Amino acid sequence: MHVLESFSLKGKVALVTGGAGLYGRQIVEALAEAGARTFLAARSVDKLEAVAAEERARGHDVTALHLDLSSDASIEALHKTIIERAGRCDVLVNNAVTRSALDGWKHELDDFDASLRVNASALFKITELFGTTMRANKAGSVINIGSMMGVVGLELGNYVGTDMMPNPSPIYHYEKGGMISFTRWAASILGVDGVRVNCLSPGGFFNGQPAPFVKNYSDRTQLGRMANSTDMKGAIIFLASDASLYITGTNLPVDGGYTAK
Ligand SMILES: NC(=O)c1ccc[n+]([C@@H]2O[C@H](COP(=O)([O-])OP(=O)(O)OC[C@H]3O[C@@H](n4cnc5c(N)ncnc54)[C@H](O)[C@@H]3O)[C@@H](O)[C@H]2O)c1
Repeated sequence: MHVLESFSLKGKVALVTGGAGLYGRQIVEALAEAGARTFLAARSVDKLEAVAAEERARGHDVTALHLDLSSDASIEALHKTIIERAGRCDVLVNNAVTRSALDGWKHELDDFDASLRVNASALFKITELFGTTMRANKAGSVINIGSMMGVVGLELGNYVGTDMMPNPSPIYHYEKGGMISFTRWAASILGVDGVRVNCLSPGGFFNGQPAPFVKNYSDRTQLGRMANSTDMKGAIIFLASDASLYITGTNLPVDGGYTAK
């Protein structure tokens, strides 16, 4: 196979959780452009449907579906719908995230549990369900969207001169660090059936943050800038496609060199 053909997702079916958000939007765009029949799923179907309609107008096969990751039944219903409609799922991108319990370390245990339910327990459940279907097909790629915050500690200096992050919480770092560990674990379970599991750990996305933060953060990266609306596309297609058939259990930072500095 010509190497460029190995990046094609023609004939493949992909699911992105949370496909209308900052990073989700470009993940959907990338998968659809590479030829995958792409489903995106989260709680606000209206927002997702706007993304799906934009992609369909570009000639892509994109469908919005409902998903509440805090509900077992909702995850099961999504899996059933996709298998009924498409017969398979070749690529699962675990991108959705809840940012509850982000403000402060001092929380009721229930607050932490609510965050862990979406960002950890639901990750286990959805990966097990779709992973089982992929195993039956003897192929598939699961991509977990982590964060550079799962790799390094909190850099308080990034927030100097702003009122951001006045009261940091450990939960996001814990969950994203755990995601890298879960990636390795799931890769070791699913690999025997040809199913690969990898993690992409992005850096901070430029979203109009206060200028001091943008400067502080950008200076911490090796490329001197925050991430933009296309930076993740190539890495997603690489890990989703046959171009990375011998890569599993890894964590690929897409962070402008933040964690290498
Ligand atoms: N934005 C950044 O700077 C940044 C940096 C590093 C890593 N990341 C990671 O990238 C991924 C996407 O982040 P983002 O900034 O685009 O997020 P976002 O907040 O823009 O979007 C998150 C998505 O998750 C969905 N979601 C939240 N709770 C849900 C639930 N219970 N059920 C179903 N869907 C739910 C939301 O509807 C939304 O579509 C996340 O995993 C995040 O940790 C983001």
